[in-house]
Amino acid sequence: MAKHALVAVTGGIAAYKAAEVVSQLQKSGVDVSVIMTKNACEFVTPLTFEALTGKKVYTDTFDYSSDATIKHITLAKEADVFVVVPATANVIAKMAHGIADDMVTSTFLAATCPVVVCPAMHANMFANAATQANIKTIEGRGMVIVGPGEGRLASGEVARGTLAPVEEIIEAVLSVLA
Ligand SMILES: Cc1cc2nc3c(=O)[nH]c(=O)nc-3n(C[C@H](O)[C@H](O)[C@H](O)COP(=O)(O)O)c2cc1C
Repeated sequence: MAKHALVAVTGGIAAYKAAEVVSQLQKSGVDVSVIMTKNACEFVTPLTFEALTGKKVYTDTFDYSSDATIKHITLAKEADVFVVVPATANVIAKMAHGIADDMVTSTFLAATCPVVVCPAMHANMFANAATQANIKTIEGRGMVIVGPGEGRLASGEVARGTLAPVEEIIEAVLSVLA
């Protein structure tokens, strides 16, 4: 049976690159579901991921429109790997501190599978002592951190904060699944 990746998209400029990650995972034989933060929907629409996966994309913990199952629990149970791509500074902070106030963070907290986190943010947000401490915390709990890389940021500066290359993310996810 195909392995199942639950991809969580959060609200950063690199959110559009998550579509390529989903597509490449599918090409590698992985079954993919997607959830998003509300802020991620400012950057890319759930429709993109629904079209790619053929599955409903949940963005709201209280959305019971499709059936009466508790989605943040059932999606967490089904996942063989939980991939946060891109991971905002905000979501990384919530993950480090166990805050579960939306669909992505509630599902994360309920998941028992391995977690791959792909940070992407402005270099100053990444270098901030709070973000560094939060990344260290989640890494210390066994989560796999991929990137960020160095490159041209949305602000025009060249610095560390860009989403890791898609191939690097796919490689990390496949190696976790193996
Ligand atoms: C144009 C724009 C680009 C942004 N890019 C990023 C980003 O790459 N990484 C990041 O951590 N936050 C970024 N932010 C800030 C986040 O959107 C903000 O912290 C938001 O609260 C994150 O929500 P979420 O973590 O619930 O998805 C950006 C905001 C704007 C307006």
